[in-house]
Amino acid sequence: MNLQDTHWLITGASAGIGAALAWAAVEHGAKRVVLVARRADKLRQLAQNIQEKFPGVEVIWIEADLLEEMTRNNMVEQVFSGGRIDVWVNNAGMGSNGCFDQLPTSSVLKMVRLNVEALAHLSSLAVQRMKQQPQRSALLQVGSVAGLMPVPTMGLYAATKAFVTSLTDSLSGELSGTSVQVHCLSPAPVKTEFLDVANAEGVLVRQQVPIAQSARSVALSAIRGLKWNITHIYPWLAWPFPLLAWLTPRWVWRVTGKVAARIARQ
Ligand SMILES: NC(=O)c1ccc[n+]([C@@H]2O[C@H](COP(=O)([O-])OP(=O)(O)OC[C@H]3O[C@@H](n4cnc5c(N)ncnc54)[C@H](OP(=O)(O)O)[C@@H]3O)[C@@H](O)[C@H]2O)c1
Repeated sequence: MNLQDTHWLITGASAGIGAALAWAAVEHGAKRVVLVARRADKLRQLAQNIQEKFPGVEVIWIEADLLEEMTRNNMVEQVFSGGRIDVWVNNAGMGSNGCFDQLPTSSVLKMVRLNVEALAHLSSLAVQRMKQQPQRSALLQVGSVAGLMPVPTMGLYAATKAFVTSLTDSLSGELSGTSVQVHCLSPAPVKTEFLDVANAEGVLVRQQVPIAQSARSVALSAIRGLKWNITHIYPWLAWPFPLLAWLTPRWVWRVTGKVAARIARQ
């Protein structure tokens, strides 16, 4: 896909991978970027910083809590009434650390509503509209290598990301004859606020993992994936994970889960 003069929408753009994607998009030719998240101050600051560096780019920000169905409907209406979207990025997501039975029910529901319900709802609304547009467009879902295999003490998060991986393959096939291409960006650990949120939402405090990629390098992988029309985009740190997932029998994850849960409960 040619990214020159494209119009983007990025959810979860106030931090981490979403903010890095916004920068990468304008650096690679985006003409208009719509930033969506809950923290208006962060979005305003990012929009200002981008526009200072790229005065020719239009940056719009929308404060929206994507847990709310009505908010999602209104946001999509507002976005498409303002013009076309060439790259729609469903990036907003969260995790929570701990054994499933110990997680607060509110965290369980929040994660499923954001990582699964909001992603499916926004994908449906966006694809219906993008299909009507004459030019090529892309739906970029942000998944995770956690979607390839169970992750003990982060099992629900892994299951929500497995949903993203699976939906990508189905949509990519179903939409292959249309102007909409579908991608899934599946990073391994990335240096963002993700773990802080996962610790705050869960019952287990996890230290930062020793090896993590920068959000910028993940965003640049996404740009390459879009340009070269790669359906499953794995940034370099994620490369071993598809093989690991393929080689490891499911029972190994169940045994690992038993051990991890025993340690986590202590
Ligand atoms: N970091 C990692 O190690 C890693 C690895 C693989 C995949 N991922 C995936 O990458 C994506 C981005 O994560 P990140 O690492 O960049 O995490 P992050 O730094 O915590 O960013 C999450 C973004 O989602 C937004 N968000 C959260 N809840 C929202 C809501 N209810 N409504 C609207 N926006 C909401 C946050 O903005 P507000 O708080 O302002 O709303 C923030 O902009 C997620 O889907 C995550 O699962 C992350």
